[in-house]
Parts: sequence; C-alpha cells; structure tokens
Amino acid sequence: MKKYLGGFILLFILIGVLIGCSESSGMQHSDMNMDNHDNMDGEMDHGNMEEAHGKQVELKSSSGENEISIPVAMKSESKEETRYTIRAKKGHTEIYKGIKSDTLGYNGSLLGPMLTFKAEEMVTMRLINELEEETTFHWHGLEIPADIDGGPHDTLKPGDERTITFKVKQDAATLWFHPHPKGKTAEQVYNGLAGLIYIEDEATNQLGLPDQYGINDIPLIIQDRMFKEKRLDYQTAKNTDGTIGDTVLVNGTVDPKLTLAKEKVRLRLLNGSNARNYTLSLDNDDSLEQIGTDGGLLNKPIQRNEVTLTPSERAEIIIDFSKVKANKMALVDDEGVKILVFNLKDEVKPSKDLPKEMNDYEVTQEELSLPVTKKIELFGMMDNVTINGKKFDADRIDFEQKKGVTEVWEIYNKPDEMGGMIHPFHIHGTQFKIISRDGKTPPESEQGWKDSLSVSPGEKVRVAIEFQYEGIYMFHCHILEHEDNGMMGQINVY
Ligand code: C2O
Ligand code: CU
Ligand code: CU
Repeated sequence: MKKYLGGFILLFILIGVLIGCSESSGMQHSDMNMDNHDNMDGEMDHGNMEEAHGKQVELKSSSGENEISIPVAMKSESKEETRYTIRAKKGHTEIYKGIKSDTLGYNGSLLGPMLTFKAEEMVTMRLINELEEETTFHWHGLEIPADIDGGPHDTLKPGDERTITFKVKQDAATLWFHPHPKGKTAEQVYNGLAGLIYIEDEATNQLGLPDQYGINDIPLIIQDRMFKEKRLDYQTAKNTDGTIGDTVLVNGTVDPKLTLAKEKVRLRLLNGSNARNYTLSLDNDDSLEQIGTDGGLLNKPIQRNEVTLTPSERAEIIIDFSKVKANKMALVDDEGVKILVFNLKDEVKPSKDLPKEMNDYEVTQEELSLPVTKKIELFGMMDNVTINGKKFDADRIDFEQKKGVTEVWEIYNKPDEMGGMIHPFHIHGTQFKIISRDGKTPPESEQGWKDSLSVSPGEKVRVAIEFQYEGIYMFHCHILEHEDNGMMGQINVY
C-alpha cells in the first residue's frame, strides 16, 4: 500500500514537472549541447526534471580528436588450454588528457581485455577481486553452469579469488563480461568494468569474414557518460531511471576516431551503456550489412540502413569502405550525432565477397506451436520498477524450468499512465530465439540467437528458450539502475 501511495505521489509530481517543463525544455536541451564543462554543475540541476521526460539528455558529437583504444587481445597463459587470469581493479584514467578520473577495469584501469574462447574447448579462468568492495564476474551471453555464471549470489569479497573451469558449448559469437553485485551493478559498470569475449569456431573461421583483430575486425563498446569538470562521477550523474550522459565513449575513448584502410571492415557493436538506446547509421547514407546478433551469426548478411541497440545488445556489421571516395565518414545516431568518426587512409585493400550462408538458425514449427508457459510483465519507472508486480528477492524463486526442454516465454511491457518506456530484457545462461513480436514474425535482423531484447511499451514478445544446465539464473531489465532497483527475477533450472 505504501509503495502504491508513493507511486501516486510520484506520478503527480512527474505530471507537474512535465507540464512545467514542456515550454522551456527545448532551450534547456540545446544548452546541454554546448561544449561547456564548467557549466556542468548548473546543468546537472535539471537532471531530476529530465527524468520525467525519459531519455532527454542530448549527446554531443565526437570531434574525432582521439584514436580509439582497442582492448588488448589477451593471450592464453597455457598452450594446451585456454587459461586467463582476470583481476577487477581500481585505477586512474585520463579520459580527458591531463585529468585523471577514478575508474575501474579488468587487468587495467578502464574496461577490460578481449578474451578468445574456442567452441568445444575447455576454459579456465582465475578471477580476482582487487576492488575495495564486493563484485562478481558475470559472463553475459555465455551458456555455462549457474554456479559460475557470476550472478548476484556469486560475490567475491575484496581480496578474494576463485577459479572456474567450463566447456564452451556454443558457436562463434561476441559476448561480454561485467560485474553483477546486488545493487551495485550500475555503478561498477559505469566506472569501467566491462570486457569482451569472442567465441571462435572452425566453421566461422572458414567463411572469409574480416578477422584481423584491430585492423579490420574491431570491437566497439559504446557507452554514454556524464563528466563533472572532465571527470567521471557516477554519484552526480546517477539517475534512478537509468543513468545517461551527454558524452559518448567508444572503447573508453572520448571524441573517438577510428583510422582504417579502405576495405571491408567488421565492427562488433556492443551497447555497454547503463540506459541509453542507440539507432546507428552511416552519415553518408550508405547502407551496411548486419552479419550477427547477440549470440552468433545470422544465416546470411542482411542489408540495413540502421541498427538499433538497447543496453547489452550486440550486432556485428560489415561496412565496405573500399567504395568510399571520401576520407572522412562517421557512425551517427538518429539525431545525426557522431558516435565515431572514421578516418580513412588512401590505401584501398581488396576484400573477399561476403558469404551467402553463414549459419543454420531456425525457428521450428514445433517451437511455433508451443503454448506460452511463462509470462513476464515488465512495469514501472525509476524506483518503482517490477517484474510481475514484484521486486527482486534473492530468497524467492520466480520460475522453474526443466533443463533441455524448450518453453515459450511471453514478455509484456505494461504501459503506465505516461506511456511507459522501453525495457531491454535479458536472460542469463542461455541464448534464445525471438519467435514473435505482437504476434508477428520478428524482423530479419532478429532472426538469430539473442540473449537480450528490447520490449516497447505495450508490446508482447515471445521467445523460445532452453537451458543447457541446472541451477539458478537471473532474468532482468538491462537498464542497470532498473536492475539494481529490483527489476530482476530468478529461475531455477532443474
Ligand atoms: Cu549483462 Cu545480468 O547481465
Ligand atoms: Cu547476463
Ligand atoms: Cu527497465
């Protein structure tokens, strides 16, 4: 009852703020565009009002001043098997030259290395928490046993370590890892904890896709951040409805550019933001080819004008720069804001044609005829976010599902009086298939393995999902503050 009352009061305040703001909001937002960091404190005062608008902090265009950093491709410590040591640690990073931010990273001061796993092979990882607070190591998109999945049950105290071993039981894909401690995920990710995993398999290696890491096969971790006097500062930027910033970082680089030869380039996009959605396209209106989703390659490359990614979603795309006359180009969002500037060398390199067939993904007739056996209702905003009317409780199991049995889940985003907002929904420990959106076949770009999906207000999405291992897995909204506020549940696979 208390919660309800709170909700109503909040709603009235919000409506008031909305009405109050509607006239002046245009001005405020154009002010936000100014490259005036000294003004940041003043601007931040609008923060609370802006919550009512949803995602209204405008992003600034990248000036293209700084070459992006490429995460280190970590080498296995052993020739016989894949073996890595990962340390979560504190550090200082000059995101802006000469100004140090307190940041977190894996094996470094910001973000983490790129880990390569080979399909069907064993992986051993020694995980060490060198932070001054609890953390977990969660493997987003990886199909591994629940007890090493790194959910909120799986915390390592400061100074603790543990070693995990597992077999890679899925095909080539771009996955990622990040912390997942209860109530602290948003802050730890915001401050820099996120790394990449490339799963490789033989069949994919034979396809002739661009595969020279850092040259024509490049990961792009896209994250928006707010700076206070050019320093990262989560506490000031924090928004219970999802923290968004006015500055985009790609692989931790501010004002990023990427220097490339004119050839086909594979970009592995990860929306690693706490809350912002991006719709990305090329500023010269060229199309691009999407080749992969969260969990692997599409059956064939598909031509697209734009790609939308909600938090934690990935897409692999190919851009053919060999046809481009100019030496400058950019990846832009739907407002034309430059997310990444491409700096093209004159050197034109030949590249292979894209393969016509890449995968054998299929939604079967049987899957299409399965009844819905689990319903998920996403609802709310800010602190009042719930799944099926409940907040996360580590002592409550929300669902049970049998290992190796496919079930259909229906995920519904229940609108509120103000319309509602997109919630990016994610399930641990598996890759699933989207079988319909509001009863319709999903777009081609979603006809591939997924572990996260966007659900718009009012929308019902059905997914076919199977778990390979037993144990307790999380499912949650991947707006990290929503997750921390309890928009999470757990399933026991038996
Ligand atoms: Cu990206 Cu619960 O995970
Ligand atoms: Cu996950
Ligand atoms: Cu949400």
